[in-house]
Amino acid sequence: MSTAISPTAYNYKVVRQFAIMTVVWGILGMGLGVFIASQLVWPELNFGLAWTSFGRLRPLHTNLVIFAFGGCALFATSYYVVQRTCQTRLISDSLAAFTFWGWQAVIVGAIVTLPMGFTTTKEYAELEWPLAILLAIVWVTYGLVFFGTIVKRKTKHIYVGNWFYGAFIVVTAMLHIVNHASLPVSFFKSYSAYSGATDAMIQWWYGHNAVGFFLTTGFLGMMYYFVPKQAERPIYSYRLSIVHFWALITLYIWAGPHHLHYTALPDWAQSLGMAMSIILLAPSWGGMINGMMTLSGAWHKLRTDPILRFLVVSLAFYGMSTFEGPMMAIKTVNSLSHYTDWTIGHVHAGALGWVAMISIGAIYHMIPKLFGRAQMHSTGLINTHFWLATIGTVLYIASMWVNGITQGLMWRAINDDGTLTYSFVEALQASHPGFIVRALGGAFFASGMLFMAYNVWRTVRASNPAEAKAAEQIAVVGAH
Ligand code: HEM
Ligand code: HEM
Repeated sequence: MSTAISPTAYNYKVVRQFAIMTVVWGILGMGLGVFIASQLVWPELNFGLAWTSFGRLRPLHTNLVIFAFGGCALFATSYYVVQRTCQTRLISDSLAAFTFWGWQAVIVGAIVTLPMGFTTTKEYAELEWPLAILLAIVWVTYGLVFFGTIVKRKTKHIYVGNWFYGAFIVVTAMLHIVNHASLPVSFFKSYSAYSGATDAMIQWWYGHNAVGFFLTTGFLGMMYYFVPKQAERPIYSYRLSIVHFWALITLYIWAGPHHLHYTALPDWAQSLGMAMSIILLAPSWGGMINGMMTLSGAWHKLRTDPILRFLVVSLAFYGMSTFEGPMMAIKTVNSLSHYTDWTIGHVHAGALGWVAMISIGAIYHMIPKLFGRAQMHSTGLINTHFWLATIGTVLYIASMWVNGITQGLMWRAINDDGTLTYSFVEALQASHPGFIVRALGGAFFASGMLFMAYNVWRTVRASNPAEAKAAEQIAVVGAH
C-alpha cells in the first residue's frame, strides 16, 4: 500500500503525538504537584538540596502542568478541531511536526534549567531568554499552521471553537513577547526591560491573561467542540457563543491589576481591574450556560457516559471559579484572601476542576477516533478516573478554603493594645491539617491519571496501522 500523504486525509500523526504527551506530562506535572504538596506537610522532603527544594520545584510544577500538560492538550485538540471543522488537512506537515518537537524541547529545557535555579523570577514566565526565544518561534509557527489551515478550509463558516483557539494563539504570542522583553547579560541571565510598578503591571497583565487566554479561552475552544460532539447535540445557542466570545476577550485583557491590589500601582488602575473583573462574571457564565444547556434533552447520557461527565463537571468548576474570581477581585475581599491558601484553592478549582477535567474528557473522546477504535479500552476505568478526579479536586479546594480563611483571619487579628494576636508560625501550624488533606486530594487526582495512561495504552495497543490510517480519511462535508 502506498504511504504517500493523501490530500484527502487529516494529519492525525501530530494530534496523536500531542495527545499522548498530554497524558505523560500530566502524570509528571501532577506527580510533582503531589510531591511539593507533601513538602509542605513534611519539610524533610526538601532533602537539604537546592535543586530539590520547594522554591525550585514549584515553578517546575506550574510550567509542567500549564505549558506541558495544558499546552499539549491545546495543541492536540486545536489541530484536531481545526482540521475536522474546516474539512481539510493541516496546511503543512513539517511545520506542524516542528511545533511538536520544538514544544517538547522547551519543556525539557524547563525541566533542566528550573531546578538548577535559572529563572527570570517572573511567575509563569520563568524561562530564561534562550528558551523564551525558542518558545516564541514555536508559537508563531503554531499560528501559521492554525490560521493557514483556516484559510484553506473547505467549509463556508469558521466554527466558533476556532475563534476561541485563534484568540488564544494570537494573544498568547502578544503576551509572551511583550512580557519577555529583556536584556541578556549572559547565556542564563537576563534583566527585564521594565522596572518598578511598570514591570509589575506588565507582568500581571501577562499573568492574568495567561489565565484568561491560555487557561480559559483555549479550553473554551475545546468546550465548544467536544461538549456538543460527546453529547451528540448541537451547541445550545450559536448566537450566545458569538456574544460570549467578543465579551470575554474584550473584558479579560483589563483585569490584570486585581493581582496588584494595595501595591504601588496607581489606585485608579486597581479599581479599573476590580470593575472589569466583576463584569467578567457575565461572559464567563454565559459560556458555562451555553455549554451546560447543550445537554438539554441529553442529561440521561450522564448516567452511562463518564466522558460526558468529565466535560460537564469541568463546566461546573469553571462556573464556580469564575464566580469566586470576581469576588476575590473586590479589594476588601482581596485584603483577606491575598497571600493565603484561598488563592491556591481558587487556582486549583480552575486548574484541576476546569482545565484538567475538560482536557481529560477531550483526550478520552479523541483517542479511539485517532487510532481507529470504536471506543476506549475500558469505560469502567474512565469512571474510576472520573471519581478520583472529582473527589481529589473537592478535597484540594475545600482544604484550601479552610486554610485560606483561617490564615487571613489569624494574620489580621489584633489585641486591644494593637499587637498581633497570633505569630506567623501559629497560623502555619493551624494550616497543617489542611496541607495533609490537600496532599491527599492531589494524590487522588494524580492516581486517576495513571488509570488513564493504562487505558490509553491498551486502546492504542489494540489498534492496527490499517485502522489508524482509515480513521484519517476526510468524511463528507457536514459529517465532522
Ligand atoms: C472571571 C474569572 C476570574 C476572575 C475575575 C479571577 C480573579 C482572580 C483573583 C482576584 C485572583 C487573586 C489575585 C491575588 O490576590 O493575587 C486570582 C488568582 C488566580 N487565578 Fe483567577 N479569576 C478568574 C478565573 C480563573 C480561572 C478560570 C482560572 C484557571 C484556570 C484562574 C486562575 C488563577 C490563577 C493561576 C491565579 C493565581 C495567580 C498568582 O498569584 O500566581 N482564575 N484570580
Ligand atoms: C495533582 C494535582 C496537583 C497538586 C497536588 C498540586 C499542588 C500544588 C502546590 C502544592 C502548589 C504550591 C502552593 C503554594 O505555593 O502554597 C501548586 C501551585 C500551583 N499549581 Fe498545582 N497542583 C496540582 C495540579 C495542578 C494543575 C493541573 C494545574 C494547572 C493546570 C496547576 C497549577 C498550579 C498553579 C498555577 C500554581 C501556582 C498558584 C499561585 O501561585 O497562586 N496545578 N500546586
